[in-house]
Amino acid sequence: MSEEKMSLNWYPGHMTKARRMMQESMVLIDLVIEVLDARIPYASRNPDIDELAKGKSRIILLNKSDLADPKGNQKWIRHFEAMGAHVLEINAKSGAGVKNIRGLVEKACKEKIERDRRRGIVNRPIRAMVVGIPNVGKSTFINAFAGKACTKTGNKPGVTKGKQWIRMGKNLELLDTPGILWPKFEDREVGIHLAFIGSMNDEIIVLDDLALELIGTIQTRYPGALSARYEIEEDAKLATVLERIAQSRGCFSKGGELDLSKAASILIEDFRSGRIGRMTLEDCE
Ligand code: G4P
Repeated sequence: MSEEKMSLNWYPGHMTKARRMMQESMVLIDLVIEVLDARIPYASRNPDIDELAKGKSRIILLNKSDLADPKGNQKWIRHFEAMGAHVLEINAKSGAGVKNIRGLVEKACKEKIERDRRRGIVNRPIRAMVVGIPNVGKSTFINAFAGKACTKTGNKPGVTKGKQWIRMGKNLELLDTPGILWPKFEDREVGIHLAFIGSMNDEIIVLDDLALELIGTIQTRYPGALSARYEIEEDAKLATVLERIAQSRGCFSKGGELDLSKAASILIEDFRSGRIGRMTLEDCE
């Protein structure tokens, strides 16, 4: 992944622009498909999405569900469903779960379809837009969902100039560019969770410190996972665990000292790619 892609450099100007673009697009659509990272469904939600998408049909996709704990996925699905949302877990990269979205779109837009029918409007396609914070997998999802069997329609009368719609059969049109939203920055834990999954610019993060935070989180939420992965005794202070990982993985500097930064990078990469196990880092209370 490129540094640029990983960075979350939101300045007030960026946020204002993102909000304005979102508001412009909202006028055109019936359905908002919100993509979250299943490992951190709380931290990867935009704080203002309910207000921005007011009055629209809503679908929440727990993406990267292959990297999250299956039990965590189920709990979060129930949580969002209890809030009245239509929810699915998917893996946009492999396409798993994506074929179930059509059915969900119809459920989510049932009222709108019936309202149209009462007014004599039949077969007007549902217009949908994909939204989410950077790196949750919006583009991967659009590619997986739209696939090859679709045609692009653009600059038709009634369509804002420049907007491209992907026609997906006669019932659905999808805006081809996702709406990029900002995360909740003011919450320290949210920032750390975004950094764990690689959604913060790693340049502005001290990876050794991040690794210590990650060790603490994994020790608490998934006891035994670090022992299993690195063949170490994990019940120890955070710094000691990092040292043990360095030893276990043979991370030494030229002078023969432990290279803790290298161990930190290995740990973080292992976590991000799911090699320590499928993990959900947040609970839904
Ligand atoms: P964005 O538009 O929301 O910014 O995200 P994008 O689709 O660019 O996806 C960000 C990264 O997440 C990509 O990895 C993509 O492959 C990966 N990804 C998306 N969906 C899933 C999923 O369901 N499961 C898993 N495991 N990964 C997913 P990358 O490192 O940038 O590229 P690549 O190494 O995968 O090619």
